[in-house]
Amino acid sequence: MMVCEFKPGLEGIPAAQSSISNVDGQNGILEYRGIRIEELAEKSTFLETAYLLIWGELPNKEELEAFEHEVHSHRRIKYRIRDMMKCFPESGHPMDALQASAAALGLFYSRRDLHNPIYIRDAVVRLLANIPTMVAAFQLMRKGNDPVRPCDDLDYSANFLYMLNEKEPDPLLARIFDVCLILQAEHTMNASTFSARVTASTLTDPYAVVASAVGTLGGPLHGGANEEVIQMLEEIGSVENVRPYIDDSLQRNVRFMGFGHRVYKVKDPRATILQSLVEQLFAKFGHDKYYDIAQEMERVIEEKLGHKGIYPNVDFYSGLVYRKMGIPTDLFTPIFAISRVAGWLAHWKEQLEENRIFRPTQIYNGRHDHPYTPIEQRA
Ligand code: ACO
Repeated sequence: MMVCEFKPGLEGIPAAQSSISNVDGQNGILEYRGIRIEELAEKSTFLETAYLLIWGELPNKEELEAFEHEVHSHRRIKYRIRDMMKCFPESGHPMDALQASAAALGLFYSRRDLHNPIYIRDAVVRLLANIPTMVAAFQLMRKGNDPVRPCDDLDYSANFLYMLNEKEPDPLLARIFDVCLILQAEHTMNASTFSARVTASTLTDPYAVVASAVGTLGGPLHGGANEEVIQMLEEIGSVENVRPYIDDSLQRNVRFMGFGHRVYKVKDPRATILQSLVEQLFAKFGHDKYYDIAQEMERVIEEKLGHKGIYPNVDFYSGLVYRKMGIPTDLFTPIFAISRVAGWLAHWKEQLEENRIFRPTQIYNGRHDHPYTPIEQRA
């Protein structure tokens, strides 16, 4: 079948058949393998959710314990990767550091036995285990400190916060962080997942798949938006400034970061869950004026742009959660990547099951039979 109509951004064009997640953008519903996100956020853990996404079913008790044990015992990164990361410029963006480090893992595991379930499981375990350690290690090394070794006694999220802050986190913080990872783990055919599937379709290794997706996630229209949300809230500075800021931005056609979504035309269900997490955090650790500014923004934008389906997306409140946890702004997107690795790996595995290399077409609108002008005659 030849599709000749050009759709910028491939909007509305199915790029795959997938049973991993489903979004109902009109009704604000998100399901992973058929289970509503609200239920997972309340009852699951990130690693259990990752297992569900990647293998299609919730693990039983023994399966979950074995999986957690495997991931937890692979959290140390190789000395050579750590030494490579030490050479990265401290001023570089942590997403670039993560992309390079994830790709470097592939140097150590170059055998591509893509049809072997043991190879697949090893790659899943290694990537889920190593990515958080890489993010935390880069953060400490760019401050001139040595990376903190993973703590065997701590679970996935608590250990990440421990490696980042060099102290054991409050259990509520660790649980809230884990829920954030659940919420961002998968979201149908977004740009980074598409990128992962395109890369997977060439039958390259999963480290290249993840590195490619990390690169795609970094842009401000995708995962990078939550960093810009915080900058925007800081720029606004007070609740009184919200309305004038919005009016001025609308006049200049500036987009509001953390608002709008290609699929959701109502409030993103993840934003609703995150908002309740923000409230739990503030109740225990003190109020934050940026939350008042954010709430006022949501009200005014709904009033002005609600008719266009512009509501908060996942990035709007996730930045506030991380900010309250004392996490530097430029780590927000790497944290998104820690979580989304689960979804990318699920899509990698699904792509391999019925693979056909991606090779879309184009509509050529350039010239033909143009003469070659010698360099001395060019303007
Ligand atoms: N602020 C103001 N207006 C907006 C916004 C926004 N954030 N998003 C969309 N609109 C308006 C557009 O100006 C357009 O108006 P028009 O019809 O009068 O021209 C209308 O809504 C539709 O916009 P599109 O560009 O067609 O929407 P699209 O589906 O392509 O965009 C996107 C989705 C890229 C996420 C967009 O909403 C945006 O840029 N948001 C800000 C960045 C952001 O928060 N990204 C994170 C997304 S979630 C994620 O990736 C995890």
